[in-house]
Amino acid sequence: MKVLITEDQIRERVAALGRQIEADYQGKPLTIVAVLTGSLILLADLIRQIGLPLRVALLQASSYKGATMTAGALIINEAFAPDVIGRDVLLLDDILDTGHTLSTLVARMHERGANSVKTAVLLRKLGRQEVHLEPDYCGFTIPDAFVVGYGLDFNDDYRHLPHVGILDGMA
Ligand code: IMP
Ligand code: MG
Repeated sequence: MKVLITEDQIRERVAALGRQIEADYQGKPLTIVAVLTGSLILLADLIRQIGLPLRVALLQASSYKGATMTAGALIINEAFAPDVIGRDVLLLDDILDTGHTLSTLVARMHERGANSVKTAVLLRKLGRQEVHLEPDYCGFTIPDAFVVGYGLDFNDDYRHLPHVGILDGMA
């Protein structure tokens, strides 16, 4: 495992993102909609850095099937989806890769009646985007390598690591 972003670097950056979000959403009906499962740890850390009233809601999206790293069809589970009518939605995901997941979810939030929809990601991978989407909040830009930790998985393992790393043989 090669450490790409340390626990300390993540903590500092997440705190800065929290301050930015806090400044931008003063007096607004903020709902943070986190995309499971990868954004779980970021969600828990980020919301504690935002000193504003806010609601939290969850969606599940998966596009990687089984042990492969090839994206399959995007499956969205809205069973726990929130009522976002009139709310200012901030979609939160672990990583912006091709952009298909977030761009699809942005459209879904508008369809569900959100007042505004913005996006926040911990990571953005360089040179991978297939759909144009500029994240409104981004923690780190990373090279095109498969990363795990701090919520990100490989075949559902490694999510619990406190840092972001590249598995051996995957750089
Ligand atoms: P997109 O729809 O291609 O932008 O993919 C976003 C999703 O792919 C993320 O929510 C992750 O679950 C997954 N993903 C993309 N790159 C990586 C990676 O390097 N490690 C782990 N998961 C990844
Ligand atoms: Mg994911």
